[in-house]
Amino acid sequence: MLQDKRIVVGICGGIAAYKSADLVSRLRKKGAQVRVIMTANAQEFITPLTLRSISGYKVATDMFSCPQEWEIQHISLAQWAEYMVIAPATANFIGKVASGIADDLLTTTVMATKSTVVIVPAMNTNMYNNPIVQRNIQSLARDGYLFFGPASGSLACGDEGAGRMEEPSAIVEYMESLAAGKKDFENRTVLVTAGPTREALDPVRFLTNASSGKMGYSIAGAAAKRGARVILVSGPTNIEPPPSVELVPVVTAREMYEKVMHYFPNCDVVIKTAAVSDYRPAVYSGEKIKKTEGRFTIEMVRNPDILAELGGKKKGQVLVGFAAESTNVIDYARDKLRKKNLDLIVANDITREGAGFAGDTNQGYLLDAKGGIQQLPAMTKARMADIILDRVALLLGKDS
Ligand code: PMT
Repeated sequence: MLQDKRIVVGICGGIAAYKSADLVSRLRKKGAQVRVIMTANAQEFITPLTLRSISGYKVATDMFSCPQEWEIQHISLAQWAEYMVIAPATANFIGKVASGIADDLLTTTVMATKSTVVIVPAMNTNMYNNPIVQRNIQSLARDGYLFFGPASGSLACGDEGAGRMEEPSAIVEYMESLAAGKKDFENRTVLVTAGPTREALDPVRFLTNASSGKMGYSIAGAAAKRGARVILVSGPTNIEPPPSVELVPVVTAREMYEKVMHYFPNCDVVIKTAAVSDYRPAVYSGEKIKKTEGRFTIEMVRNPDILAELGGKKKGQVLVGFAAESTNVIDYARDKLRKKNLDLIVANDITREGAGFAGDTNQGYLLDAKGGIQQLPAMTKARMADIILDRVALLLGKDS
């Protein structure tokens, strides 16, 4: 998987820096081309000469040294890389990148690259658990940086806990899985609901809404690609289900309720994209209702609120809701998040062009249970699916 892949290994100043030599050696044995950047502090722990001997290339250490090639070094390495792996990544490095500070060759290259960046933290356990460091990690993860580790165990400083750098063999395995396509939902069961529900009035008429199923099907497809077993409980749509998902077709809200409750106990994640009818006609007429003069009134009764019930029942599952709103988008979505006991909710402002029902794009906000809010600018529903799954993966990772 790593044959000929172009990987920049960034090394920060921590005791685990000695393991980076082994990492570079293993990556090269897998056939990868490796270039190394070391911070000034890293050079206190291990010499550039060691890394030069192992990588086979002069180690990049300084923004201002005479460039080895004609290109500006941080730009050329940033463009050259297909992957950057920062191991060990210190609290200082994470904090700088999270704050947009680029004051040395490594941080500048990370800022300038469009490659996949994997951050492998290593630090004292109290530092790792410090809320500032955790906030920085969450913020970088939201921006698409990948984190691998840290592992738990006894640390060089004598403390016990999370903060050990992952072993080079494990990092190489992770890089291989990345190169093979992200599989961060392997061994996870994800239940997605999609589309509208239909509530029949008589054999020819029903009440429904404009949901096409596209948002839910995008999430189902993305989760399957990322290794999940996906159960897609879908109302009536005109689109093909993605490959490798288990399609469970339903029509009414009550059918959706039955199926969701059936699968829920064995799921790790539920993402409720469906636009479920809140009401259904109180009476179903077995025969077609005939026209009469004057007004025609339909009495409606409430359908079960599937998501609210899951919120009351959940035992460690990650619950994600959607809210399509036309006013007070964030406030209404936050209210639903709280009342339905959700972990995340995606708020769509359906008054905006290219958002909400039927199209191939969406935009809005991703709100979490801690009060965090991430703006989701206009993007394809496929891209939004991956961003939502990245956040879910982070929540799953915390529990495991
Ligand atoms: O399908 P597309 O055309 O791609 O469009 C996508 C979408 C706009 C339908 C989708 O992104 C979306 O916003 N879905 C939620 C629509 C909505 O407004 O839901 P709600 O506010 O009624 O419900 C909030 C949440 O509770 C939803 O996750 C919903 O699935 C769930 N719910 C609602 C009512 C109910 N009886 N049971 C539920 O589980």
